[in-house]
Order: sequence, then structure tokens, then C-alpha cells
Amino acid sequence: MPEPKEFPKIAIDGPAGAGKSTVTREVSRRLELKHLDTGAMYRAITLKLINENIDLNDLDLIEKTLNRTEITFNEKQRVFLDGMDITDNIRGAEVNRLVSPVSAISLVRRRLVEMQKAVARESQGIVMEGRDIASRVMPDADFKFYLDASIEERARRRRKEQLEKGIAMTEAEVIAEIKNRDMIDSGRKDSPLTMVADAIVIDTTDMSLEAVVEEIVSIVKSKVS
Ligand code: DC
Repeated sequence: MPEPKEFPKIAIDGPAGAGKSTVTREVSRRLELKHLDTGAMYRAITLKLINENIDLNDLDLIEKTLNRTEITFNEKQRVFLDGMDITDNIRGAEVNRLVSPVSAISLVRRRLVEMQKAVARESQGIVMEGRDIASRVMPDADFKFYLDASIEERARRRRKEQLEKGIAMTEAEVIAEIKNRDMIDSGRKDSPLTMVADAIVIDTTDMSLEAVVEEIVSIVKSKVS
């Protein structure tokens, strides 16, 4: 890994339910660094393809759609699709069901990875979360964290999150959904979920998310001038 700088680039990868989103948000707040949730970008493009009823096999139409799509974030981490705030629309059942297949389309990945690389280049320090950040988007990151947790714990967190939104799911349903997402995210040809050789792996199963944040912040602070 290169010598870390005053404004570090931090990659946080891992499967769904490992605690990435909460941890990334809090780490970026504590270190006063910009934050990019790349999963939200895949979710935004998925929402657009759903809204426009686009066949996921129609690559020409998907390319044309990508050419006229703008995904932006504001400082409060709200997500905008073509100028519209869609933050509250990208965590629903339909987007959940289709986001893994959409993010397995090479054309979609290529475009979003390009956008994410540009954000990394233009930022003075960043915490970026996703599946392929250390392996593909920021291979030169100063810190590469990989968060993991047992499937039971990931399912428990996901169920709780869904319940808070008023959606009741059985444990078996949640486990099936997570296994299906893992299979697509890890099995796709183009930049799958990857644990790089120099990743700092944190198993969050028996840790509170505050403890995970503390561990990451202290590792970064110990190395950054
Ligand atoms: O982190 P999340 O659950 O919001 O991610 C949604 C989907 O996006 C997930 O199924 C995999 C995909 N994704 C990806 O392929 N690459 C990334 N860098 C981030 C997310």
C-alpha cells in the first residue's frame, strides 16, 4: 500500500448486511472526509430502468439511457437522479430485487466505475463503500477495509432494517434474498465482490457498529499525519 497522505482515500468493501453503509457514514463524519455510497448509484440506475420499463437484455437501450442519466449527491448524502431526489425510493422491494442483475451488466459497471474513479481523483480524501472499490475503483487507496459478518447476523440486521420501514419478512426469506444477492455479486464476470490481498478484514458479527467505526478510525489516525 502507498504511504498514506493527509487526506486519505479509504475503500470499504464487503457483502450486503456487513454494516458498510452505517460504518462508512460515521467514519467519514469522524474523519471529516467526503463519502460515496456506490451501491446507491447502482440502485439509482436500477430505479431508472424500472421506471422506464427497460428490458435488461436490451443493451443498446441501456447504453442510450446511461448516456442521458445523471447521478449526483448533495452534502447530506441525498441521491439525485437527473436532478430529482430519489433517496427514499431506492431501497424498495423492486429495486432490491433487480439491483444485483443490473449491476452485473458490464456496460452499467463500466460507466459507474468511470464516474466513481473521477470522484476519487477529484476528491481531497474520501471514504468510498461498495463491492469492488479496492479491487477496481481505487486500487491505489491508502486503506482497504473489508467488512464481513455471518449470514445469520447479516440477515438479522437486514430484517431489523426492513421492520423499521414497516416491512415484515421471515428469517428464511431474508436469508434466501441475501444468499441470492451474494451469489450474483460474487459470481459476476466483471469486477465481482472481491477481498484484495492487502485488505484489512474486520468481522463485524459480534461487534457493535460503533466498535467497527472506532477500529477503522484508530487505524487511519495512527497512520495519517
Ligand atoms: O450496498 P448496496 O446493498 O446498496 O448495493 C446494492 C447492489 O449494488 C448490490 O447488490 C451490489 C451492487 N454494487 C456493486 O455491484 N458494486 C458496488 N461497488 C456497489 C454495489
